Parts: sequence; structure tokens; C-alpha cells
Amino acid sequence: MRDRVWIVAGLLLFLAVITYPFWHGVEARATSQPPVLVLPAHEKECVAPISYMRTSHMKLLLDWRNSVVRNDQRKYVSYDGKVYDMSLTGTCMKCHEKKGFCDRCHEYAGVGTPYCWNCHVDPALAEVKRP
Ligand code: HEC
Ligand code: HEC
Ligand code: HEC
Repeated sequence: MRDRVWIVAGLLLFLAVITYPFWHGVEARATSQPPVLVLPAHEKECVAPISYMRTSHMKLLLDWRNSVVRNDQRKYVSYDGKVYDMSLTGTCMKCHEKKGFCDRCHEYAGVGTPYCWNCHVDPALAEVKRP
């Protein structure tokens, strides 16, 4: 009879331990949902196909920077023939917001905040600071 109590207690403990990851997830409200990114309301296309942007936007930005800073070449002709000014603040941030888009994905992906914003302006902040 006494043994039975210990067996039941042992079983309960065992159950608690093996289901811990599940309960812990519920308690922390953890999900594996991807982040909800704020997209521009009136634009449908990025400056390059989305599959390229997803994996290589950092490379595109550095290409733009080199082109502007080293070659004084500021025009970018996109895959669909549109012409854009090669500018982080003036072009990317006309369509995208830093907080709800760039930062949200970077936080999710654990990239941190790129140091670019030490010098380049987030237009949303510039507006708040204007007197
Ligand atoms: C130390 C300051 C500084 C940092 C940090 C910096 N930049 Fe720049 N960047 C500049 C300056 C100055 C220019 C030249 C601006 C011009 O000639 O219009 C420039 C130009 C550019 C341009 C082309 C012009 C424009 O208006 O955007 C791009 C694109 C660019 N940088 C991207 C980046 C990216 C991406 C990062 C981060 C990985 C970065 N920069 C970090 C100072 C900086
Ligand atoms: C004319 C508006 C516009 C400009 C300018 C623009 N984008 Fe986009 N971008 C979009 C739209 C719209 C999408 C979503 C496209 C889709 O869903 O097919 C997008 C998608 C993206 C994505 C992929 C998001 C995802 O869901 O994975 C990244 C990253 C991105 N843009 C970065 C940039 C960067 C960096 C720049 C500047 C070099 C830039 N964009 C310039 C409109 C723009
Ligand atoms: C859909 C997800 C996603 C979105 C949206 C996104 N990024 Fe990124 N970004 C990444 C990932 C992932 C990396 C790291 C890639 C790597 O390390 O190879 C990265 C890296 C970068 C880097 C290089 C960072 C470094 O420190 O070297 C820059 C610059 C950058 N992103 C700029 C932007 C800007 C500007 C926007 C908004 C216009 C943006 N990203 C939106 C996912 C995203």
C-alpha cells in the first residue's frame, strides 16, 4: 500500500518533467510565428525581387553605398525598369519603417540593430524631433 503512493508520486513527477517544455512554452507565451512586418500601404514591389531582398538586402545596400561614395553614381535601375535614387533614408525608408519592419525582423532573427543608424537618419525619428 505504501509503495503505491510512491509509485503514483513518481509517475506524476515523471509526467511533470517530460511535459515541462510544453508548459514552459505556454507560460512564456512563446510561439514559433514569424514576425508580422509592416509593409508599405501603397506599394506592391520592392527595388528587387522579394526573394533577393530577403536574403541579400545587406549586399544591395553596400553596393549602393560603394556606388555613391566611390563612384558618385546615384541612380539604380531595377529589374522592372524603374529608376531609384540609391539612398538608404531617401529610398528604402520612403517605403519601409524602421521600427515595424527592419527592427522587427532583425530582432526576430537575432541580428541586432545595424550600426548604419549611427549616421543615417530614420525619417520617423526626424519627424518627431522637428520643432
Ligand atoms: C560613420 C557614418 C556612417 C555609417 C556608420 C554608415 N554610413 Fe552610409 N554613408 C555615410 C555618408 C557620409 C555617406 C555619403 C552621403 C552622400 O554622399 O550622400 C553615406 C552613404 C551611404 C549610401 C548611399 C547614399 C545614401 O543617401 O544612402 C548608402 C546606401 C549607405 N551609406 C548605406 C549604409 C549602410 C547600409 C550602413 C550600415 C551597414 C552605413 N551606410 C553606415 C555615413 C555612414
Ligand atoms: C517603392 C517601395 C519600396 C522601396 C523603395 C523599397 N522597398 Fe523593400 N519592399 C517593398 C514591398 C512592397 C515589399 C514586399 C514585396 C512582396 O511582398 O512581394 C518589400 C520587401 C522587402 C524585404 C523583404 C521582406 C520580407 O518579407 O522578407 C526587404 C528585406 C526589403 N524590402 C528591404 C528594402 C531595402 C533595404 C530597401 C532599400 C534598398 C527597400 N526595401 C526599398 C517596397 C519597397
Ligand atoms: C525579413 C527579415 C528582414 C527584414 C525585413 C530586414 N532585414 Fe536586414 N537583415 C536580416 C538578416 C537575417 C540579416 C543578417 C544576415 C546575415 O548576417 O547574413 C540582416 C542584416 C542586415 C544588415 C547587415 C547588418 C550588419 O551588421 O552587417 C543591414 C545593413 C540590414 N540588414 C539593413 C536592413 C534595413 C535597412 C531594413 C529595412 C529597410 C532591413 N534590413 C530589413 C533580415 C531582415
